[in-house]
Amino acid sequence: MTKTLAPTPEGLASAAHLLSSGELVAFPTETVYGLGGDARSDIAVARIFDAKGRPRFNPLIVHLPDLAAARDIALFDDLAERMAAAFWPGPLTLVLPLRPSARLSPLVTADLPSVALRVPEHPTAQALLRHFGGPLAAPSANLSGKVSPTRAEHVMAGLNRRIAAVIDGGTCAVGIESTILGLTEDPVLLRPGGIPAEALEACLGFPLADAPNCERPAAPGQLASHYAPRAAVRLNAAAPEPGEFWLGFGAGARDADLNLSPTGDLVAAAANLFHYLRQADDRATGCIAVSPIPEKGLGRAINDRLRRAAAPRS
Ligand code: TXA
Ligand code: MG
Repeated sequence: MTKTLAPTPEGLASAAHLLSSGELVAFPTETVYGLGGDARSDIAVARIFDAKGRPRFNPLIVHLPDLAAARDIALFDDLAERMAAAFWPGPLTLVLPLRPSARLSPLVTADLPSVALRVPEHPTAQALLRHFGGPLAAPSANLSGKVSPTRAEHVMAGLNRRIAAVIDGGTCAVGIESTILGLTEDPVLLRPGGIPAEALEACLGFPLADAPNCERPAAPGQLASHYAPRAAVRLNAAAPEPGEFWLGFGAGARDADLNLSPTGDLVAAAANLFHYLRQADDRATGCIAVSPIPEKGLGRAINDRLRRAAAPRS
């Protein structure tokens, strides 16, 4: 059962405690309800994808209480500082270069060298971030493919029994997601949202380029900067050929060099995926052979990422 918590000191303390244990808590922001998990915990972030039934590991927005906390996670140049000063707290998300020292789970950024950050204005989101004391990864709190929730009842309709709790903070005022501004290269509008592009342009002092497709940003595997293993990758390998590095899954892969989950737990496998791909790439002298992963639940997102890793390179 998913608990409904009140936005009181007691409710917020319970929510912060759940989040510290790697559990998921949905909370109100001024845009839509977010499905929060500790952005530093591989298991918590894997659970977000599992709860939403997302078929791929899109990068998630990391929520912070203020600009000072955001500066610990990403690199802010003068322009980023200016946009943050003008629009935070509020419905603007900035995509910035990730600090290597940030210690986020690589699942949050889909292993990209950039990160999306947002400082929400909603008093309950602010209070939760301060009680919790760390960065919260939070996509909209709905099942993948469904509309974003703007009331606690909407969250429950989709995610009851899939998450630990929801904080009921009433109706979200903005009702659509935050505007996403990419600042890793020339400024680009990655997603229209709660702050009109014109307001951003007035602050920037020049017109913004649109992303090629706003609602579907380049999937992580298609981004040039995305990490791809050096070694060749062979999928659905029941056993390795001589000289191959074996990235196993499940009890049948007891002799694997690394095992994504010896018990066959897909949430654990997702939590380990990016770490193990890197380790396999460092250690492999030939091809990386990967055990079959069931095409269900998080297995779909894992297989999507593995197929990208195995795709021919140009
Ligand atoms: O209003 C909102 O922003 C809501 C509330 C809960 O805060 N959150 C939200 O988060 O919409 P989420 O995780 O669903 O947004 C993910 C989107 C991705 O689809 C992508 O467009 C963008 O954020 N994104 C995240 N990281 C990125 C990155 N490193 N580079 C480019 N785009 C990124
Ligand atoms: Mg969404």
